[in-house]
Amino acid sequence: MLVTQQPILRRFWYPVMPIAQLQTAPQSFQLLGQPLVLWLDAARNPVALDDRCCHRTARLSQGSVVAGNVRCPYHGWTFDGTGTCIEVPQCPDRPIPKTYRVPAFRCTERYGYVWVCLADPLTPIPDIPEAIDPHFRQIPQFYEPWRCAGLRLMENSFDNAHPQFVHAKTFGLAQEPVPPDPDEFEETPWGLRMKYILPVFNLDVQKQNLQTQETRTVRMSEGTWFMPFIRTLKITYPTGLIHIIFTAATPIDDRTSQIIQFCLRNDTEAEVSAENVIAFDRAVTLEDKNILEGTHYDVPLNMREEQHMTTDKPGIVMRHKLAALLRSHGETEQRLPSQSPLC
Ligand code: FES
Ligand SMILES: [Fe+2]
Repeated sequence: MLVTQQPILRRFWYPVMPIAQLQTAPQSFQLLGQPLVLWLDAARNPVALDDRCCHRTARLSQGSVVAGNVRCPYHGWTFDGTGTCIEVPQCPDRPIPKTYRVPAFRCTERYGYVWVCLADPLTPIPDIPEAIDPHFRQIPQFYEPWRCAGLRLMENSFDNAHPQFVHAKTFGLAQEPVPPDPDEFEETPWGLRMKYILPVFNLDVQKQNLQTQETRTVRMSEGTWFMPFIRTLKITYPTGLIHIIFTAATPIDDRTSQIIQFCLRNDTEAEVSAENVIAFDRAVTLEDKNILEGTHYDVPLNMREEQHMTTDKPGIVMRHKLAALLRSHGETEQRLPSQSPLC
């Protein structure tokens, strides 16, 4: 599936940037191939326009924010958050034609990030109750592009057959390659949910993070997939510690995803430093990145082109659900020409 060629994917909300990055100047981001300029309006709400001035196509993200509006760097035309041109410095006494405008997109803030939806939303932004629970702290973790398809990362998150290989240096039990069956598996209207218990080993840094001396523990895990490219993983340890990881693989283009990850924990900085938490999750995440950036970005939704095993059920369900989504909106799956090289 080539994500930029499937219009239905424009009807989901995606996190695109920490809102803290908008404090002083407009920023650019590319979502599903659509260049965006993002900034904070006069009410300090994030807004998003096409990153193309309607005069001579200069990039508005190279301009500046003036009184909550964005000023083009080329000739100074100024646009508000609806995309309406409100100032033409060269013609101050003439009415501004209605055609002087730039397409605007839905944009809002949630969980400390700017979210954008390029068309009429099919679903709301995923609800994460712990993000507003005062017993939990939020730790921003990663904001970086990966050269892989979002679907690869989504199925990886639910793939209990890979930690024993990919994460053998951080938590995977290499000597136990047969993963336990999920305890619960359910499809939801816009995703899936899976509960499972995964035995893991503890590195020294993780013993500190979990405040345990045990070299082995179990993760009681609940993974939730929110179509198309967001997941949460809620891990409860026997100590009572809860570590929730939010990961979005926001599609930049067909080959590239912006990885946005934060975690929520029911402990305190005095007990475990955010630095230590990030360090462990960074090591694990880089192990996944190394593998996933070697996979092909044109993920087939059909079952014929790649081979499967029983532990692949979540990834298979994801493909079925995405294929059904395309079908129900009259789209066919767009693929690379078959003669294209694999990577
Ligand atoms: S290109 Fe933007 S004002 Fe001329
Ligand atoms: Fe992994």
